[in-house]
Amino acid sequence: MSGRYWGWFFAILLLVGCGPRADVSVPEAPVVEPMPDGGVVGEGRELYDRYCKLCHAEGGKGYASDDANQLSNSEFLSSASDGFLMIAIDQGRPGTPMAAYGKRFGGPLSHEEEVKLVLYLRSLQTVAPVALDPGPVRGDIDAGAQVFAERCASCHGGRAEGDSALSLANPVFLMSASDGYLRHAIRRGRSGTPMPAFEGELAPKAIDDVTAFLRSLTRNVPTAPRGELPPTFESAVINPGGPNPEFPPLREGRYVPAEAVKDALAKGAKMVILDARPTSEWLNSHIPGALPVPYYDPERMSAKLPQDGTWILAYCGCPHAASGRVMDSLRGRGFQNTAVIDEGIFEWIRRGYPLTYGTSPTVGAPR
Ligand code: HEC
Ligand code: HEC
Repeated sequence: MSGRYWGWFFAILLLVGCGPRADVSVPEAPVVEPMPDGGVVGEGRELYDRYCKLCHAEGGKGYASDDANQLSNSEFLSSASDGFLMIAIDQGRPGTPMAAYGKRFGGPLSHEEEVKLVLYLRSLQTVAPVALDPGPVRGDIDAGAQVFAERCASCHGGRAEGDSALSLANPVFLMSASDGYLRHAIRRGRSGTPMPAFEGELAPKAIDDVTAFLRSLTRNVPTAPRGELPPTFESAVINPGGPNPEFPPLREGRYVPAEAVKDALAKGAKMVILDARPTSEWLNSHIPGALPVPYYDPERMSAKLPQDGTWILAYCGCPHAASGRVMDSLRGRGFQNTAVIDEGIFEWIRRGYPLTYGTSPTVGAPR
């Protein structure tokens, strides 16, 4: 590791250490040539492999699960500032499978670790940073809504909430993406991904209109979650005196329908439910009685889990990647009667099934 990279390490610490700001000014991206792998970058890669690869795939290629986008993408890395990357990692994208990884939000990563991750992502960058148009884009929001419905909604969802492609209405995304960033992505697309380049396809005015429309979706960023992780759990079992749940045969030997789990809970059945997402997501909301056993720490709690055939279920937002990893780890250690909740937590929430948040015992009060 040459002094140059340590220099960047501390420069980024200083630049982004003051927390999120509206429309983050762009610290010039440090690289034009790929950075050598080793030192701080190597530590960043180890963190990436542990926490991120599950969805964003080896080397940031994207789409390992959850339609997690391509982080190594040239148009992305040449237009996203360090601040943009830091905020995405720190605060996540609430309401999507992208959890908050920052300690402040209940996640596992320190500020220094987040900086190492940003440096690792930078090491994947092969194209020089582009200059984004400064200043706000002027456009007709209603006309932009029309363009969006016709040209964008099929991938990004009717309300830009995300579908096969990521959400564009997400408050954390819109807080950190400038108008220039949005317009650049729309003009140039993301090569090697389904995102087309609209320059030449749409008139410049239509591109401005749809940019103005996206900007109009800005809402307040949610605050850090309430509650704290309990330091230890006395018992993992929900309803220890209850009957065993009656589940239908598992689909593919792995998946139990959410409805069967909801019914079993209502009947007071005895089981263990593990939330496989980062702990920040568990703090935000979880199935009552579920314990945080994140995919990057599957051994957590295993000493407290019953080995007597009690059903142990895992779920995540994905809906299968993180929970599948936790379940496979349990099966590998000889646990019987394990399953993944098939539809995942977002469908559970959408159906209005019981939820609680933080360490509070309140049921049915999601944030
Ligand atoms: C459970 C799957 C999952 C994991 C694990 C995950 N992500 Fe994500 N990530 C996503 C998804 C899905 C999105 C898009 C969210 C949306 O719709 O807004 C995303 C978005 C992002 C973005 C914003 C990209 C953009 O173009 O706006 C960054 C940066 C990012 N993730 C980095 C990371 C890093 C670094 C890690 C590891 C610390 C990580 N992610 C772990 C699923 C995941
Ligand atoms: C065929 C599917 C598809 C269509 C149609 C599409 N997109 Fe995308 N878009 C994507 C995908 C996939 C990505 C993420 C690519 C990646 O992996 O980096 C993306 C990324 C983006 C981004 C960058 C988001 C970020 O977090 O960095 C913006 C902005 C965007 N699209 C806007 C639009 C707009 C506006 C339209 C319509 C004019 C549109 N897209 C049409 C698939 C699509």
